[in-house]
Amino acid sequence: MAIRNIRLIGDSILTKRSKEITEVTPKLRTLIEDMLDTMYDANGVGLAAPQIGILKRLVVIDTSPEGDSPIVLINPVVLETDGEQTGEEGCLSVPGKSGVVTRPNYAKVKAYNENMEEIIVEGTELLARALCHEIDHLDGVLYVEKVIGDLHSTEENND
Ligand code: NI
Repeated sequence: MAIRNIRLIGDSILTKRSKEITEVTPKLRTLIEDMLDTMYDANGVGLAAPQIGILKRLVVIDTSPEGDSPIVLINPVVLETDGEQTGEEGCLSVPGKSGVVTRPNYAKVKAYNENMEEIIVEGTELLARALCHEIDHLDGVLYVEKVIGDLHSTEENND
């Protein structure tokens, strides 16, 4: 259990493509635990491994209001999307800012869980947005590239 340092926009690691994971080792299990700790500590709804400096295709998400429903996605791939939603989006790597992004309103993702079992995760609204946002991180894409108009400051202090 540890909180890792979150890399910020401008760090070149955030623009790189992450590599596929081939096996779940004890080290990877620790990484998953640390990513969950780091996401919850930062009050985020998602975190991708490159955001803590690890170029592996690993994402954690929890969009539940209670913050008690973690989803772990290894090598996630978007299989299907539908519809459209346009709304505010933020990122732990871009603290204190948000911007308007259009995303699919539904996403169906294939991935592997922490036991390397294939899983399908389907989401609408916030979960669909989080799935697309986090998977973008694995391809070195930040939401700021997709923002309509300007980024604005959030009232919330993310420090
Ligand atoms: Ni992000």
